[in-house]
Amino acid sequence: MDKTKIKKNYLKKIQKLVNLNKHYYDLSKPLVDDKEYDQIKKEILLLEAKHDFLHSEESPSKKVGFKPSKNFKKVQHKVPMLSLSNAFDEKDLINYEKKIINFLNEKSSYEIEYSAEPKIDGISASLTYKRGEFAMGLSRGDGKEGEDITQNLRTINDIPKNILAKDFPTEIDIRGEIFIQNKDFEKLKDKFANPRNAASGSLRQKNPDDTKKIPLKFIAYTYGYVNEMKIKKQDEYLRKLSEWGFKINPFNKTIKGIKNLMINYSEIEKNRNEINFDIDGIVYKINSFDLQKRLGNVANSPRWAIAHKFSANNGVSTILNIDIQIGRTGALTPVAKIKPINIGGVVVSNATLHNEDEIIRKDIRVSDVVVVERAGDVIPHIIEVDLKKRKKDSQKYVFPTKCPSCGSETIKEYNLTTKKKDAVRRCSSEGYDCEKMAIEKIKHFVSKEAFNIDGFGKKIVENFWDLKMIRLPQDIFNLDFKKIEEMDGWGKQSVANLRYSIEEKKNISFERFIYSLGIRHIGFENAKLISKTLKKAENFINLSKDKKINELLNIDGIGETQINSLKKFFLNQTNLKVVNSLQKILKINNAIENKKDGILSNKTFMFTGKLQGISRAEAKSLIEKNSGTIVSNVSKKLDYLIIGEKPTKRKVETAKELKIKILKQAEWFNLLNKTS
Ligand code: IVH
Repeated sequence: MDKTKIKKNYLKKIQKLVNLNKHYYDLSKPLVDDKEYDQIKKEILLLEAKHDFLHSEESPSKKVGFKPSKNFKKVQHKVPMLSLSNAFDEKDLINYEKKIINFLNEKSSYEIEYSAEPKIDGISASLTYKRGEFAMGLSRGDGKEGEDITQNLRTINDIPKNILAKDFPTEIDIRGEIFIQNKDFEKLKDKFANPRNAASGSLRQKNPDDTKKIPLKFIAYTYGYVNEMKIKKQDEYLRKLSEWGFKINPFNKTIKGIKNLMINYSEIEKNRNEINFDIDGIVYKINSFDLQKRLGNVANSPRWAIAHKFSANNGVSTILNIDIQIGRTGALTPVAKIKPINIGGVVVSNATLHNEDEIIRKDIRVSDVVVVERAGDVIPHIIEVDLKKRKKDSQKYVFPTKCPSCGSETIKEYNLTTKKKDAVRRCSSEGYDCEKMAIEKIKHFVSKEAFNIDGFGKKIVENFWDLKMIRLPQDIFNLDFKKIEEMDGWGKQSVANLRYSIEEKKNISFERFIYSLGIRHIGFENAKLISKTLKKAENFINLSKDKKINELLNIDGIGETQINSLKKFFLNQTNLKVVNSLQKILKINNAIENKKDGILSNKTFMFTGKLQGISRAEAKSLIEKNSGTIVSNVSKKLDYLIIGEKPTKRKVETAKELKIKILKQAEWFNLLNKTS
């Protein structure tokens, strides 16, 4: 999907959410149930996590705390709940400390003591205690005004309801984080994008009984209003919190000097996968309350604290297992099943290991502690193994020499182009004999670029396969719809729809038919080339009989690799059976002939460099539609060399020597009477 489409889809979801919010909060007439509401929120957050270019002020990621709700009364915080400014590296910390020392008018040698507290990625809350009794609990809201969520907070076991300690202030706002442990999130992962969302969603339930069902935790770390307190330092306050009966973070430390802050940071970042809740950085607070008072606040955040954030696109986890996935062409792709970790708001539990060579090169083993990266649209992958954490009895991973699905030998092929053995190991069985490959082949058959059968997605292929309803592509056209109608999740209408979409696709273009067979090295472009040359489906089937495959070598773009693959395909009896039955069932339309008398007739073209706003394939087809011919090298036979961005120098120079016309993309468009 291109950027515009992704953005459009994203904004549509945002708009939908705005409308749902309006009905829920302002009109008190919810349009959907909580599950559906959470689902759309989750979709928005996942899209944002996947694509950096998506932003909206209306996004749930931008709205801090809860949206003021009719369900909860709004109450002013006696002391505002501020946010923290961020630091990302050592340089930021050095600058931060310098500023503090300057502000305090101290010498540069002045040593500052910090309370370093792992920053829990949850939802903050302020708990007011009066004479030791939990009187009221507020959400952060906009920092000045929160929502009265006392009844929901009461359901949390970690929140003491009565404190008898003599030294407990007569009135105090205890502040801290509400969160959910990773193991508890496991049960909620279908409803929420990450543990933070799950905690937030649970806290905002209208009915406290619903909040009670979710094992929320509370860790205390600061205070808001307090009428009288003799404590002088943050670390002392934390110890007191614990004495009074609050949970505190077991990884809090008192540290002096930036170097030591950095050591602690690296250690915690490396070990954060062993902590059973999400942390997204470390909060440093000037330990002395006197200094905190002198430092005061800047705008919305205190000058006396800063959050040292962890990288938002990688994290540390442990490999639980290595799974081997088998693709349509038999490629064995190893996938690391990792202990789930939250990377930038997305919970990751799989990381690709690419291929056998990658595992050998990085010596990746089951039980290894690894750094996982998830950036943009790229599938999460492993960057490195923490060898210091490797157990003594750890064993090298042995890549399967037999296909885990069908037991056939696995092989590494010799690549004719690179003149090297492939990095990928493959199942040697041909197509449908291997169960996993067969399923993937059928998924390819129904996919968008192939038969594009509406409503026949990957899940349905798997489901029908498990029920033994499909084994080969032609089975799709002989389904027992009566039986499907009786199956779970199906009804009269959905079956009628499916039946209609299948029926509709019996009429198919020749190129799509070739592509859908999933022959290795025959992608959509090659399928098009072959269909144009062979013209009719009969000729395709006859390729096997008449040993005519070699003739396809004359097609520009088809090489030895494709020919060998086609030969292998036609040697297999199941493949022949598939092609023959499909030909009987389907109406395969002949390839559309290009006009012979178009404006580019008798002219030859070649492209070099990247074109703007048009793919190479589309550009080629545009030439062919207008009766031009594409050639693959610069020779006297070439009439026009069309150059895009970064053209191959050698090609341009040869063209100049041979006095061949060189056209920029815009000039070529003019030739076609098009404007770019
Ligand atoms: S101190 C103004 N201490 O981080 C002081 N905050 O961006 C802010 N947080 O809203 C509170 N762990 O949700 C503090 N040990 C900790 C914290 C912590 C997590 C969160 C809290 C706050 C946000 C600040």
